[in-house]
Amino acid sequence: MGETPLNSPAQPATKGLFIKTYGCQMNVYDSERMKDVLKPLGYAPVDTLDAADLVVLNTCHIREKATEKVFSELGRLKELKEESGGRLRIAVAGCVAQAEGGEILRRQPAVDLVVGPQSYHRLPEMIARMARKTGDILETDFAAEEKFDALPRARQVDGPSAFLSVQEGCDKFCTFCVVPYTRGAEFSRGVDAIVSEARELARQGVSEIVLIGQNVNAWHGAAPSGDGRGGEWRLGDLIRHVARIGGVERIRYTTSHPRDMSDDLIEAHAEVDALSPFLHLPVQSGSDRILKAMNRQHTAADYLRIVEKVRAARPDIAMASDFIVGFPGESEKDFEETLALVREVGFAQAYSFKYSPRPGTPAASMSLQVDERVKDERLARLQGLLRNQATAFNQASVGRKLDVLFTREGKLEGQALGYSPYMQPVHVADGAHLIGRMARVEIVAATMTSLSGQLLAAEARIEVSA
Ligand code: SAH
Ligand code: SF4
Ligand code: F3S
Repeated sequence: MGETPLNSPAQPATKGLFIKTYGCQMNVYDSERMKDVLKPLGYAPVDTLDAADLVVLNTCHIREKATEKVFSELGRLKELKEESGGRLRIAVAGCVAQAEGGEILRRQPAVDLVVGPQSYHRLPEMIARMARKTGDILETDFAAEEKFDALPRARQVDGPSAFLSVQEGCDKFCTFCVVPYTRGAEFSRGVDAIVSEARELARQGVSEIVLIGQNVNAWHGAAPSGDGRGGEWRLGDLIRHVARIGGVERIRYTTSHPRDMSDDLIEAHAEVDALSPFLHLPVQSGSDRILKAMNRQHTAADYLRIVEKVRAARPDIAMASDFIVGFPGESEKDFEETLALVREVGFAQAYSFKYSPRPGTPAASMSLQVDERVKDERLARLQGLLRNQATAFNQASVGRKLDVLFTREGKLEGQALGYSPYMQPVHVADGAHLIGRMARVEIVAATMTSLSGQLLAAEARIEVSA
């Protein structure tokens, strides 16, 4: 200490931070914010575990496999910790921490602290307690509001696209899902906090803002005082507002629930140029009987009506969805109704899963659980159909000129990787100089998962309309 020059604050020694993120967009955002919370303590992100003093596993509890991964990863980390002579500290965050915090500490004593998704703003106190070996190292309170108020305003951004959390938690209680238990009740952040975070991102050069929430379209908030109409805002109003921030060229939102797909939000797709023509709207099943047992509170026809309205507002919209096969009681006929819905809509992208019983959820104790082999067979059929649709969607882009936001290097030397307005990954050769920018590209080839393109002259971006 005596060596610190007068009037110059002592800089904490840099410590390596390695965060491994599992699960959904909410965890990706939380991992970014944990970096911001830990930065003042001297933690800087490192690329390898060997260089780390603290490793954080930001975990997902959604399916059994996701949870089991955490315990096997912890086994490996325990060995690394021993090899480091105890220097490496291990923290478990996220939804497994919330659901099974006590169990983690019992099953894996090498874990130094456990922090739930609404408590990570308390990491600095927890790390201090860990170092002093005093007090609780398990924090799993549910106070989303307090968390957002306590998070640092400053954000370290990485590239031209950033997530901005506007909504957390879920009150829908689908009978298969752990999220209402791991993330708590629905909470919407206030307009001012969201807008100031969006401005800060734009100031740092972010041109794509992705508004995120477990049920992002359930977001609502009091209109800001400058808004003449007053009253309550919904997601469509927020999107219109964020679109006016200088530097914001593209806006997306994810994930939505069919019940909250309001007309106002659908209209925003017609009105707001910056809003991507892409909608991730999970449906889970095409059978009304199964949708009812899942407590989704809508029918297959309701879903199709929403898609019709969205397409009327924005004819080129790319639809994406999530599906579960083998929910308890699902018959061959129910499953075929799911295939029929998929054929009717035509999806550009989709995630499909075998139903995984989750402890404490109503569906886990329902009778008529579906045999694993039947789930495998249905998943293969569904994925075959979805793969064909994704390929057809991508092939229809060949020959088009699309604006691509380049976010990072591709796998090949000099290649740049970006995203089309429809969320298709696009590769361009000799494009390293494009990373961080939006540029107009002619699509020359397509596969099921990505497109290849050629850069057009910069001026063409203004002249050509898609
Ligand atoms: N809030 C979103 C998605 C949350 S979880 C929504 O309402 O749709 C992401 C996806 O995981 C879900 O859409 C669902 O398809 C899948 N999922 C959730 N619980 C599951 C379970 N027990 N087994 C298999 N898949 C599940
Ligand atoms: Fe889970 Fe349903 Fe809530 Fe989505 S809406 S997070 S699937 S309970
Ligand atoms: Fe997984 Fe939690 Fe997200 S359970 S899907 S990380 S909300």
